[in-house]
Amino acid sequence: MMMVKVSNGTLTPLFVLILNSERNLEMSKNPLRDGIGPWPTSIRDQESLKETMSATEQKTIEREARLWEEEYGTLKVIPSSTRELPSKALLLFSEILDFKHLKKVLDAGCGIGRNAIYLAQKGCEVHAVDISQTAISKLQRAALRAEVRERITIYNIPLRETFPFENNSFDLVLDSYVFCHFTDEDFKQNYRKELHRITKPGGIVFSSLFSEEDEYYKKIIQNGYGKENIVTDPKNGITKRLYTEAEIKDFFSTHFDILYFVKFEFEDIVLGLPYRRSILALALRKPA
Ligand SMILES: C[S@@+](CC[C@H](N)C(=O)[O-])C[C@H]1O[C@@H](n2cnc3c(N)ncnc32)[C@H](O)[C@@H]1O
Repeated sequence: MMMVKVSNGTLTPLFVLILNSERNLEMSKNPLRDGIGPWPTSIRDQESLKETMSATEQKTIEREARLWEEEYGTLKVIPSSTRELPSKALLLFSEILDFKHLKKVLDAGCGIGRNAIYLAQKGCEVHAVDISQTAISKLQRAALRAEVRERITIYNIPLRETFPFENNSFDLVLDSYVFCHFTDEDFKQNYRKELHRITKPGGIVFSSLFSEEDEYYKKIIQNGYGKENIVTDPKNGITKRLYTEAEIKDFFSTHFDILYFVKFEFEDIVLGLPYRRSILALALRKPA
């Protein structure tokens, strides 16, 4: 059974239908091409950015990149590391919000591109950033299969102090399970500031993350791999911060209006076992 709570918005049965049927949705089934061919849009290389980083920052970024490479390359612990379907939170907000006005989109920490491709298929001009080269290669192949490569600009770079985008650039910025991996307070505040800076006035930020009630992460904390709400998955070494509704609303409301807040739960398989996942998702608006 699916439980969905929407505040500041109306829930119609259609949303529940969409959330329940996610596993049944299919993306293009074209066979993978052998090579990806020349990519028409810019791909910036992490190596060229290294010169501009301090030694400490370089070390942090290298560690993060290594963990995500292992996750996407061999471990595949996190369901979204292999999932091609758009996230439930994005599907839900796609029904609530009018995408006609959301043309230019940033998918921050895009992973293998399940959301970037969905948004490109909806006609958006998507800019997709990720630290993992393996994830980016998978996104490139998926974009070819879905025939949306012309609409996706890819950046294989880490998001760090200053995002490489102009002020007020995007109608929509997607933070789909990315912010929750940042636990350093200064970095978190800087990330929020950057989300705000690059979003157009009146533009939207979608953020989704795990609640402290999530069964998979709760179990890991009980097994001794976490402290309070910060949990490090022993299966891939990746750290996450879990949030309550009040905490995440407080965090984002300093810079954004909260248009919609949604909490939903569903059963998902992680490493072959079923868990009750618990998700918090927000649609935020940068004041005009
Ligand atoms: C849990 S995955 C979510 C992927 C995607 N947003 C989705 O919903 O399927 C988190 C993603 O954030 C990326 N990531 C983590 N830290 C990053 C950073 N500092 N800069 C850019 N990407 C980062 C990881 O490589 C990974 O693809």
